[in-house]
Amino acid sequence: MSVSASTPASRSASSPSAPSPTAPARSAATTAGPALPASSTAGSAAGSAPSASFTAGSASSASASPSAGPSPAELLSFVRATAADAELVASLPLDPEGRTWIRLDGPEGSEAWLIGWPPGTGTGWHDHGGSYGAFATAAGALREDSLAARLPTEGWKTLELAEGVDRNRLLEGGDARAFGEHHVHEVRNESGTTHAVSVHAYYPPLPMMRRYSRSGAVLRLEEVERPEEWQ
Ligand SMILES: [Fe+2]
Repeated sequence: MSVSASTPASRSASSPSAPSPTAPARSAATTAGPALPASSTAGSAAGSAPSASFTAGSASSASASPSAGPSPAELLSFVRATAADAELVASLPLDPEGRTWIRLDGPEGSEAWLIGWPPGTGTGWHDHGGSYGAFATAAGALREDSLAARLPTEGWKTLELAEGVDRNRLLEGGDARAFGEHHVHEVRNESGTTHAVSVHAYYPPLPMMRRYSRSGAVLRLEEVERPEEWQ
């Protein structure tokens, strides 16, 4: 349903001007945007669906045991298969000025998004609030910078990263990766000319996201976003 709900009609709503407090300042910037942000802003774009989904997601995740829900491998399989769905991918409205998105029904109560990335757009550093997930590039290419270190989740404002923890990869059309609940990364479309499209899935549905800024080896916690803020 979210797919049909977000066709061209929602295009303007799903562009960068989305409501979230984060949108105005970030949407125009290269690093802007919600970290899966992309998905977070997406919440506001999809109208009533997202908020309902978030609510339902939180409720179900709270009552479910940790073993419930899809496995990381299932999420990976889902994003791969969805990224290969040419008709669905083609249904995503693309906007040269900002990211666009469609909310999808992920497997077993997971949260999923189809996201369009104009050249030069990205998420900034963020985590996923304890959710694990997977993403796949359907078109174009996305660069992911990540940390091969598990950060303490609470109780710090700045953290100096050890040498050698940086990882990066380029995910081109058809490439996919899964990540764990402590994953910290930033994703961007470095192309100067080509739009990228990707599929993302998370479980449990994102309960929050921590956003970070980075200067050299220093990572600084900038804000914590919760689903209510993405609507
Ligand atoms: Fe992310």
